[in-house]
Amino acid sequence: MILTRPTAPIADQKPGTSGLRKKTRVFMTPGYLENFVQSIWNAIGGVAGKTLVLGGDGRFFNDRAAQTILKMASASGASRVIVGQDALLSTPAASHLIRSRGADGGLILSASHNPGGETEDFGLKYNAANGGPAAESITAKIHSESEALREYLILDAPDCDLAALGEQRMGDMVIEVVDPVADYQALMENLFDFNAIRDLIAAGFQLRFDAMHAITGPYARAILETTLGAAPGSVVNAVPLPDFGGHHPDPNPVWAHDLMTAMFAPDAPDFGAASDGDGDRNMIVGRGLYVTPSDSLAVLAANAHLAPGYAQGLKGVARSMPTSAAVDRVAAARGLDCYATPTGWKFFGNLLDARRASLCGEESAGTGSDHVREKDGLWAVLLWLNILAVRQQSVAQIMAQHWAEFGRNYYSRHDYEAIDTAAATALMDDLRARLPDLPGTEVAGLRITEAQDFAYTDPIDRSVTTAQGLQITFVGGARLVLRLSGTGTEGATLRVYLERFEDAADRLALDPQAALAPVIAAAESLAGIAARTGRSKPDVIT
Ligand code: G1P
Ligand code: ZN
Repeated sequence: MILTRPTAPIADQKPGTSGLRKKTRVFMTPGYLENFVQSIWNAIGGVAGKTLVLGGDGRFFNDRAAQTILKMASASGASRVIVGQDALLSTPAASHLIRSRGADGGLILSASHNPGGETEDFGLKYNAANGGPAAESITAKIHSESEALREYLILDAPDCDLAALGEQRMGDMVIEVVDPVADYQALMENLFDFNAIRDLIAAGFQLRFDAMHAITGPYARAILETTLGAAPGSVVNAVPLPDFGGHHPDPNPVWAHDLMTAMFAPDAPDFGAASDGDGDRNMIVGRGLYVTPSDSLAVLAANAHLAPGYAQGLKGVARSMPTSAAVDRVAAARGLDCYATPTGWKFFGNLLDARRASLCGEESAGTGSDHVREKDGLWAVLLWLNILAVRQQSVAQIMAQHWAEFGRNYYSRHDYEAIDTAAATALMDDLRARLPDLPGTEVAGLRITEAQDFAYTDPIDRSVTTAQGLQITFVGGARLVLRLSGTGTEGATLRVYLERFEDAADRLALDPQAALAPVIAAAESLAGIAARTGRSKPDVIT
């Protein structure tokens, strides 16, 4: 029986950088999830007759939220929902399923790299028919629908069995439970030379993949161990847990410190990697060498043609504005178009759909290509492995050659987490007001060339997105960006992005924090971060 439940608008259902993220208990409040899901249906013109994809990263409440969404999809007339077994799907696998099955859209249950558990974070994201995160116009519509919501529809029915593969019915709707890994693995086998990677591993190449007790465990085991022959146990923390074992499933040197320790030990494997909660991020580490995501993007751009799926060459590349310009140098050398977009994967979708770019990346450990419309952690790992198999060099050798050829963009991000929202806003507002006066002035010994509040006009649909971060560039290619996070669930998080270019042969192997010292000093002097946030140093440095 279809129930029509009266409800009242909930004030804070505004999707951020990547869907709606809140504390799990907020999402568990009766009506909270239901209101948001109904707002999605309303914003996309209903789901009657539509096919949707559904899955999540397995965090606490994933299973129950999936049942509620299925009952609401059925009540509103959806014809089919394709669900990953046990309501699990990595974000890239969900994106692929939406595309390969010609679905009208999909819902992904995840708060990505945010911690999970009853007292931690939960999230829900709507992806459109192209497999990518809904555009700003749709997320704004979802928000406005949520502000006017008066009722939602839900089927009064027992839960369905999401462990059982195959088709079942819920009301008039078909629920098709699929293996979360199979289609994704087939896609990877199409893009990469699995035989070359298998040979590399068979010849003694050792790897360690840290799944951080999140969604990529089953994917990595199936692909890296079972199919490519990595030794059993190469995938660590492989079992997804509702609270990710109490850790942040965020693949960076801070949260993946076990991997860093293993990769810097005397008996380190040849290659280390990690992914995040929902499997779209990646971290790459060589023996004794951490590869920044910005550098990784540049290396992949320079070498992608070595993998069969990219043998024809790239159509263009795109990076988020705060990401370093390392990839720009590769693009310039190879004659590729290069785009700088606002933060968040949704801005790459139009460029990928229009075939203006085929490789995209963000400094926050996200890299991907036109094979799906999300960033893709395991894909980046496999592309690296394919490149290593062809070049027969170590990660360190590849990086050294890359910097020698293109120069090195030293890069780091300093995060000040859960700071006072008013203080963070005031810091940004004050600096924003001073931007017009900054060009030509000198700060901490660096001369400012440009200072702007980054705005983006989408080259395809001409939509304009403003206030995407304060960007200050200096003579010689150094750069500073400040922006507030759009994914946090507590207070405000200030992100300070620091970059400096070097191409002198004897200055390519400096310690990044030391190389960036002048830019760090400029940030402090311009924004007064310590005084305003009350923090003497960043909470996280990546
Ligand atoms: C963060 C990252 C951004 C990424 C997003 C979703 O957003 O900085 O690059 O797209 O998570 O994974 P932020 O918290 O900075 O808004
Ligand atoms: Zn993620």
